[in-house]
Amino acid sequence: MNDKENINEVIKVLNNRCSVRAYDPSPLSQEEIDMILHGAMRAPTAGNMMFYSILEVQNQEMKDRLVKTCDNQPHIAKAPLVLIFLADMQRWYDYYRISDVPELCDKHNFIYRTPEESDLLLACCDALIAAQNAVIAAESMGIGSCYIGDIIENIEIHREMFNLPKWVFPITMLCFGYPKQDVSKRIIRQRFPKKFIHFTNIYKRFNKDDFTKMFQNYEKETLVKNAENLGQDYYLRKTGSAFSQEMSRSVKVALRDWTEKD
Ligand SMILES: Cc1cc2nc3c(=O)[nH]c(=O)nc-3n(C[C@H](O)[C@H](O)[C@H](O)COP(=O)(O)O)c2cc1C
Repeated sequence: MNDKENINEVIKVLNNRCSVRAYDPSPLSQEEIDMILHGAMRAPTAGNMMFYSILEVQNQEMKDRLVKTCDNQPHIAKAPLVLIFLADMQRWYDYYRISDVPELCDKHNFIYRTPEESDLLLACCDALIAAQNAVIAAESMGIGSCYIGDIIENIEIHREMFNLPKWVFPITMLCFGYPKQDVSKRIIRQRFPKKFIHFTNIYKRFNKDDFTKMFQNYEKETLVKNAENLGQDYYLRKTGSAFSQEMSRSVKVALRDWTEKD
């Protein structure tokens, strides 16, 4: 990495961040937690409407249960701070109802539109942008973090556990804590070369040779059983795996609340 790539402190934080899954057990101070939350809430948000909520899971039994409902990831239970980022349209629709918006629409023949797929996607954008601000705020204080995408699994259990109403969807979870490992020994994982990610004006699709170059820094020594190449390996471990199938089932269930008319 050259000097230009580390031009200021923010860029340095971006360059040196990596997911942290082993945490020092010491709790974060309330001041640190508040800084992380404040950083999240300063994120850009559609229409300045903050279509998200942040649920802090403090209860140890709940954290233990999340280990199991999120594909058996023990680091969740050991994280000093666990935040679930909720795509949240419920707050606004409760407010619209309290503000007699349905009556207004009725009176003036306006359509009263309840949340739909587009609202869910917008709320997910808001929640994820806030989440990433939280990651960077934490990282800037030396606090590590790790996303838990598996929170979108088991929607029925998570709804019941956290009392989530219909128009609230847990889009991601973050574990935080001071890294157990010496920061100088952390491994910064490679990314695809820029030309495979950044296009100018038009989208580009790739052929076999391109893909070989795209994965040039990703060579794995061992592939999973039955896989003959990296494409097969990734499919078996990720896209076609049991956790991915559970995500698909769970999200289909959640989507019904956003696709069916209220
Ligand atoms: C949407 C999303 C979901 C993720 N879910 C998990 C997860 O469930 N468990 C986990 O250990 N890491 C999870 N990660 C972290 C990725 O595995 C990690 O970002 C990736 O391997 C790159 O490593 P790095 O963050 O250290 O650069 C997730 C990351 C994202 C962005």
